[in-house]
Amino acid sequence: MPDPSPLRVPAAFAPGTPRIPCRAPTDETLRAAATALKAGKLIVFPTETVYGLGANALSDEAVAGIFAAKGRPANNPVIVHIATLDDAKPLAEVTGAARRLAKAFWPGPLTLVLPRLADSPLARRVSAGGETVALRAPAHPIALSLLQAAGLPVAAPSANRSGAISPTRAEDVALGLDGSAGPLPAMILNGGPCAVGLESTVLDLTTAPPRLLRPGAVTREAIGAVLGHGIADGGSPIALNPGAGTRDPLPAPGLLSSHYAPDRPVRLNATAARSGEALLGFAGTPGAHLDLSPSGDLDEAARNLFAMLRRLDAPPFRAIAVAPVPATGLGLAINDRLSRAAAPRPPATKRS
Ligand code: TXA
Ligand code: MG
Repeated sequence: MPDPSPLRVPAAFAPGTPRIPCRAPTDETLRAAATALKAGKLIVFPTETVYGLGANALSDEAVAGIFAAKGRPANNPVIVHIATLDDAKPLAEVTGAARRLAKAFWPGPLTLVLPRLADSPLARRVSAGGETVALRAPAHPIALSLLQAAGLPVAAPSANRSGAISPTRAEDVALGLDGSAGPLPAMILNGGPCAVGLESTVLDLTTAPPRLLRPGAVTREAIGAVLGHGIADGGSPIALNPGAGTRDPLPAPGLLSSHYAPDRPVRLNATAARSGEALLGFAGTPGAHLDLSPSGDLDEAARNLFAMLRRLDAPPFRAIAVAPVPATGLGLAINDRLSRAAAPRPPATKRS
């Protein structure tokens, strides 16, 4: 059968701007990165999920740099990274449920939204003006070494422009963060490709029952098994308003409709490429330009998703069609990201 599309996938490695020093993790570079964090600078570091754009979470000014560099609306709060459950205690109210979940899944890809303590030293900006804070201990040796060397909680959203695809490789970071809108990160710590490839599960523990704000590698079933009861869905997705200030906190900040989006439009549940489209396959889709996992392995598909979307988000393609991925286990999180990548983009959230 002839190839349905003569279009070729561009070369795998697209070099980004070389302006951010990209360093292998050594005692020396980790020390330099920790010193930079303490001085209020931004550091990009790997986690098991995606690369994070880190700043001192105790400094409103340092955290403001994250918002500027990403073009992130001020009403979208950021996750604070810590090394251990003990580090959470001065920052937030660690409820019994939080303790049980942290013991089961930390370090790991689970973010817990908790009430801020009244005397929490955290920058107000990490909570986007609200009374809650999202905490997570990442399961990555470089991230944990950096947290320990800095001796600080580190605020870190994914290291991409707001609304765009999260970077899962160091070379993808520089493509979105070029210093044009905010501070240029002082360094990228290169940890190679991320093992999970999708952002952490975000669970809001400030409501009863807890709400799943973002599905990820720690599944609803796994959380329910630890808590001994079910959890609620986050609700319906809402659109991001880039003009919003911290006085208009998002009703449910985890739920942004258009997000994780390549520049090109995305069409879901495709079985073949139409004219000008790249086809991203799964489990051996015939005619696919790239396949998330030829053997149908959802872990492998999650690891490949963002890097493959980036590769297909380039000429000669004008759009990206994606084959169906089963919505079970990690497939739920994959489908969540795909549906946001395909969501209609209001003009105000379109990126240039
Ligand atoms: O895997 C991850 O979580 C990565 C790595 C770097 O740790 N970080 C990440 O951060 O994905 P970010 O900022 O791109 O996504 C954080 C999500 C957003 O949807 C945000 O709205 C939500 O968590 N969030 C943060 N703080 C919150 C809060 N206090 N209440 C509710 N949602 C919150
Ligand atoms: Mg993000």
